[in-house]
Amino acid sequence: AMGSPTNVFWHECAVGKGERQKLVNQQGCVVWITGLSGSGKSTLACSLNRELHSRGKLSYVLDGDNVRHGLNKNLGFSPEDRTENIRRVGEVSKLFADAGLICIASLISPYRKDRDACRALMTDANFIEAMLLSVFMNIPLEVCERRDTKGLYKLARAGKIKGFTGIDDPYEPPLNCEIKIEQKNGVCPTPCDMAAQVVSYLDGNGFLR
Ligand code: PPS
Repeated sequence: AMGSPTNVFWHECAVGKGERQKLVNQQGCVVWITGLSGSGKSTLACSLNRELHSRGKLSYVLDGDNVRHGLNKNLGFSPEDRTENIRRVGEVSKLFADAGLICIASLISPYRKDRDACRALMTDANFIEAMLLSVFMNIPLEVCERRDTKGLYKLARAGKIKGFTGIDDPYEPPLNCEIKIEQKNGVCPTPCDMAAQVVSYLDGNGFLR
């Protein structure tokens, strides 16, 4: 069983976060992108990664699909495994942000309690300023399903994948996100527009100084 480790102590390092930030001339934070499969999370992550790079800011993408090939390859899609998936990526994101990077985490992260736990993680004693921005891909299921880029919705509808998010497993929309990506007049924003929306938020909140 997991729990708090005994006889394990926290080491304070010689070089502090502030010093690191100064050295790399940027402020670490986490951009947490949540939404249904096919809602455009990875597309936004990529586009944002590219835009920040062109502005001279170092960012790094942690994508659910990719992380599940390595760090989280022992996890499936049961509620417990999803929770553990989110927890691990949350902890890694926190380390990346502490290192001074803009960490872009892109996972379905369907359960509110798991996302809330991540947010809480980022605002504990070591992280005085709020440094997690949640981005909700508010794209209707019908649109994601119509895209069906990986053919998974079709399999889920046919009962060949059990517990697929949005079909027979819940997606709980955030109540407290900083940024919402939505269709306008039935049209989804372009990758460029989505990235611009996030960059404008980061800029407006002092994260790109
Ligand atoms: S989660 O819920 O946050 O742990 O999921 P995540 O790590 O982001 O992984 C989502 C991708 O896994 C594929 N996949 C499934 N998604 C949802 N439900 C089930 N049962 C499932 N099985 C496989 C799917 O390709 C998701 O990719 P994205 O990038 O979201 O489209």
